[in-house]
Amino acid sequence: MRHVCIYALLLTIFFIYPTLLRGEGNAAGRKIFVESRCYTCHTIKAEAAQIEKEKEAFAKAKGVELKDEDSKKGDDEKKGGDLSDVGKNRDSEWLTEFVQKPKNYFKTEADCKKIAKKKYRKRFKGSEEELITLVTYLASLKYEKHGEGSESCLKE
Ligand code: HEC
Repeated sequence: MRHVCIYALLLTIFFIYPTLLRGEGNAAGRKIFVESRCYTCHTIKAEAAQIEKEKEAFAKAKGVELKDEDSKKGDDEKKGGDLSDVGKNRDSEWLTEFVQKPKNYFKTEADCKKIAKKKYRKRFKGSEEELITLVTYLASLKYEKHGEGSESCLKE
């Protein structure tokens, strides 16, 4: 029994922890991001290749062809933008609350209200465990921001 414990400890120190540090533990979070269809409104440009791969795997698992129809509508209103640097500005606590109750965070102008409603419909509805995995992933995204800095509908 003791051997098992020591083995587990060594495994953690030499394998799992460094893996997490390198961000490879994020594969699980990326999977949830794709399976929750967050990509229909958001990009993670810094990880575009991995996201594409995950989408292919998801499509295969479901036996369907993934149409990016939602994201191709050209409807800028529902666009959430690039999340490559979201972990720089938001911590896990904020993200945990936001992905489940996004409405509270939107400005109250008419335009933003409409967007907030759409966002609410697509809020995260997975399990507690998936939520933690997803949020840990999002909080770890600290790349440089890619692209546009368009006006935000969020309060702060
Ligand atoms: C219907 C489109 C839509 C979908 C689907 C969607 N989002 Fe969003 N998301 C938005 C919009 C719009 C905003 C607000 C962008 C703004 O105005 O700054 C946003 C903002 C965010 C933010 C805050 C970004 C910041 O600047 O702090 C996070 C984090 C986020 N979304 C995560 C997710 C996750 C995770 C999923 C999948 C469970 C998801 N979103 C699905 C539209 C969407």
